[in-house]
Amino acid sequence: MNPSFQNIFVAPGERKPLRYIGAMIGDRWSDGRLENENGVCFAEVQNGIPFFVQPEDDGWGTDERVDLLLTRHGVKRETLIPQNWEASLRNWGPSSKQYEWVQRIVKQGGRILEIACGPGGGFLPLILDLDPKAQLLANDIGGWILVEWKKFNDKKGLWANASFAQFDVNQCPLRSDCFDCVDSAGGFSNIEKNHSVWPRSTEYLSPEGDCLCQTLMRTLPPLNNCLTQNRRPG
Ligand SMILES: C[S@@+](CC[C@H](N)C(=O)[O-])C[C@H]1O[C@@H](n2cnc3c(N)ncnc32)[C@H](O)[C@@H]1O
Repeated sequence: MNPSFQNIFVAPGERKPLRYIGAMIGDRWSDGRLENENGVCFAEVQNGIPFFVQPEDDGWGTDERVDLLLTRHGVKRETLIPQNWEASLRNWGPSSKQYEWVQRIVKQGGRILEIACGPGGGFLPLILDLDPKAQLLANDIGGWILVEWKKFNDKKGLWANASFAQFDVNQCPLRSDCFDCVDSAGGFSNIEKNHSVWPRSTEYLSPEGDCLCQTLMRTLPPLNNCLTQNRRPG
């Protein structure tokens, strides 16, 4: 976990800060836990990734179930993320639909939260292609997805500041005003109770921050500083 994200986590509900107890590699978290002032653990941290969701509440299920699912789709765990990353960048450039958006995020700088990045990564490959040093926190409820994205980055050494955190955005363990941009590409439409998640994104977004959302949903509640694009307009 990049140092710039190490002070953003709070206990969901209580909203009190969590502290990291565990091993460090340089200035980064390695293996440990996030606990409140009374020593109650809210997330195990493994290889720098905090896991806020209990395995039984991670809808993807066990590693064996994920592997079965991938096999059914003719996909290999080791090649899934590299392939998705390459596919995202294949036709990416100034003439791409999202180029202006992504450029705006990158120019703004600061901390970026990618909600429900999924195996496809959402905007993650695009943002990090324009700025490999972007301070981007990738989120998903599926722990295995973040493990695979981190493994990919560790192997390739592409992005110096990208970090990963597993939590349910409905119980978002983030302090207020800690992001300069919150974005999601196709994530919101897959989240239960998404109409309440979307406005709640402003809680952890700074007042000048941007919300960037590409979605299949036809209607989204209005938000300030919010750019939305329906993939299927109408
Ligand atoms: C269609 S996929 C992701 C789309 C993605 N942005 C992409 O480009 O592939 C939807 C993702 O939402 C995640 N998700 C569903 N409910 C969630 C929640 N409550 N909190 C965080 N992630 C969630 C799923 O695990 C899944 O990876």
